Amino acid sequence: EAKDAPEPQFFPPLNLPFRHSVVDGWVYPPFIKEDTIERTRKFQLREDDVFVATYPKCGTTWTQNIISKLHEVHGTGALSGLGSHLLEVIPWLENSSHEQIAERPSPRYLKTHNPYVHLAKDPSIRCKYIVVSRNPKDACVSLYHHAKGFSVFKYSGEFKDFAELFFEGKVESGCWWTHLKQYKQNRDDLDILLLRYEDLHSQGLYMIRQINDFLALPSLSDSDCKRVLEETSFDKMKKDPSANYSWRDDGRKKDESPFMRKGKVGDWTNFFSKDLSDRFDKKTRDLLGEFEVFNDYIT
Ligand code: A3P
Repeated sequence: EAKDAPEPQFFPPLNLPFRHSVVDGWVYPPFIKEDTIERTRKFQLREDDVFVATYPKCGTTWTQNIISKLHEVHGTGALSGLGSHLLEVIPWLENSSHEQIAERPSPRYLKTHNPYVHLAKDPSIRCKYIVVSRNPKDACVSLYHHAKGFSVFKYSGEFKDFAELFFEGKVESGCWWTHLKQYKQNRDDLDILLLRYEDLHSQGLYMIRQINDFLALPSLSDSDCKRVLEETSFDKMKKDPSANYSWRDDGRKKDESPFMRKGKVGDWTNFFSKDLSDRFDKKTRDLLGEFEVFNDYIT
């Protein structure tokens, strides 16, 4: 990872209080540049590729771990030997060697934060995408701590200012609303399973079964399903060096802003004013109101 990359040349220049780059108007972390996105768009897809495709902080790592544990209980071995932690087992496409990914056996599991417009496309191939959504207010709080925690961003602002940037889409991965809307609008191009972070919390067993079936893995026994749920609990993952991002501890303020921070639904109530919450609700209504599945994100 290019932690010490030089300050990118912004086009158009955006005067943001953290290090970043901009590609086609989408804000990215500073180590992801135009050529990185060009490369991901040209990525050679295989028909059985599976992507965990998320706006950051919406449950990516949790989902990666569920996939990994499902393979473990089935003993399929598809993910064994691929690495010692989740980001090696299910690599982040934008920030990994495509040559190494090309050498992987099928099915390949990959993570992407790209918006729909920056995905690799092949009209003859319809890959699987597990898209995970999370209440934008909780995503905003989580992304604020993420931006402060990872030193690559060199960010030390206050929440109320960060929330305005999030509202305008001037944070990593751009506008939460547009990111999700594009996936929903283009759902016919992709084979999508849409999960909500909140449902992983409230109906974990059911969601794990959904993931298992979407991946066309063997039928899952009740006890294995329960085992996956337990193995992927927040408390377990926080202690698990293969899941808790401790492999990136050199690049983050781990005590102040741990990757496995709170893992709760509704932490936003500790950060949002009534006015800010109302504005988020209006934006959700305006941009995603047509999709009932997101109505719960409106207070
Ligand atoms: P918080 O910052 O609110 O705690 P991502 O993996 O997409 O970057 O998302 C990270 C967020 O998911 C963090 O949210 C993290 O704590 C939470 N998370 C990760 N694993 C989780 C789990 N097993 N249960 C609940 N939340 C989890």
